[in-house]
Amino acid sequence: MSYYRLTDEHLMIQSMVREFSRKVVGATAAERDQTKEFPRENLEKMAELGLMGMMVPLEYNGEGADTISYVLALSEIAYSCASTAVVMSVHNSIVCESIKRFGNEDQKSRYFPQLASAEKIGAFALTEPHAGSDPVSQAATAVKKGDHYVLNGTKRFITSGKNCGLVIVTAKTDESARHKGISAFIVNKDNPGLVVGREEDKMGLRASDTTDLMFENCIVPVEDRLGEEGDGFKVAMTALDGGRIGIAAQSVGVAQACLDAAVKYAKKREQFGQKISKFQGIRWTIADMATEIEAARHLMFYAAAMKDMGERFSTQASMAKLFASEMVNRITGKALQIHGGYGFTRDYPIERMYRDARVFTIYEGTSEIQRIVISNNILKDRRS
Ligand code: CAA
Repeated sequence: MSYYRLTDEHLMIQSMVREFSRKVVGATAAERDQTKEFPRENLEKMAELGLMGMMVPLEYNGEGADTISYVLALSEIAYSCASTAVVMSVHNSIVCESIKRFGNEDQKSRYFPQLASAEKIGAFALTEPHAGSDPVSQAATAVKKGDHYVLNGTKRFITSGKNCGLVIVTAKTDESARHKGISAFIVNKDNPGLVVGREEDKMGLRASDTTDLMFENCIVPVEDRLGEEGDGFKVAMTALDGGRIGIAAQSVGVAQACLDAAVKYAKKREQFGQKISKFQGIRWTIADMATEIEAARHLMFYAAAMKDMGERFSTQASMAKLFASEMVNRITGKALQIHGGYGFTRDYPIERMYRDARVFTIYEGTSEIQRIVISNNILKDRRS
């Protein structure tokens, strides 16, 4: 059985990011939701604080932090702005972690400094128009020609597709080999064969761009293949395990922000001659909200600790993602209800959080996919 303990260093990181997030990131979150402006300036400031290469080793200009520190920081950013948090999450948990795990020395020394400084924001392109929950059925191809591959295909719903500086993309190198015929590549955004397609007009996370990426005879040198040929599905699944802890952290951050806002409102708002926080109906709702958030937080920490200890954490990451993402959707609804009619307006941040949280049960694997991962692992373990 594994356990975790928050150290003084963890608490210091949390308090540093909390202060920055509430002062700087939160100040313009509502405005960004309206203008859809990508938070580039804040991401650069976050890089200065070490938040854009948090788990990248120190020798590559990273912070060398553990996953517990990372989820603490990510939750604090999500507390103020979920759009900024998802960019940070894909960049750190998926892109940096995949290069750390599968990249060679040359790739690490070329890409980590650019990523850790936020000179390049990382994106991850697995999903296609007809391959979402089932990425093995993807149609993108990569054909080897001498010292390079030629990539063709369309990727969809790519976080930071327009604003990224590099993207990890998967494509089939062997059509007949199913998941073993998929490979992963690092593609620089300025590659002339990489074209940004339409940008989605989303109900939430509006300051984080989500686009199509088209690969049109895109030439990628062999040196930029991530892992061996045929490793792409493993790269993607491993990346998503880590990414799902990140979505749990985003969920916890947004949920905590909702609870704090609901408590503040309930202590101010008067009806029937008293603060509404005096009514038992409101108090019990607040108690339930706080308990659910705490449960999700522990699942998040536990999955992060297992990852830090080098144990298999796929089941725990999916459990944390499943519970936390469904939890935050209950919490945003309850917080909005406590705010009454005002919660339905843009005068209060609850309305934005309600919209932002909706995708958490969908991206990086739907709740249904998490249940498949969890049940597959449990049933497999019981057999062995
Ligand atoms: N780590 C490493 N390897 C893994 C793995 C993991 N967590 N899970 C599976 N694999 C390996 C298996 O060991 C197996 O390999 P071998 O044959 O060599 O043993 C191989 O992958 C195939 O495994 P399965 O048969 O279980 O694969 P499957 O086709 O049935 O799919 C799935 C499994 C869990 C449903 C998977 O397809 C999945 O996770 N789907 C959801 C995809 C997803 O989350 N997409 C989100 C897009 S990214 C995004 O949203 C990012 C963003 O921008 C915000």
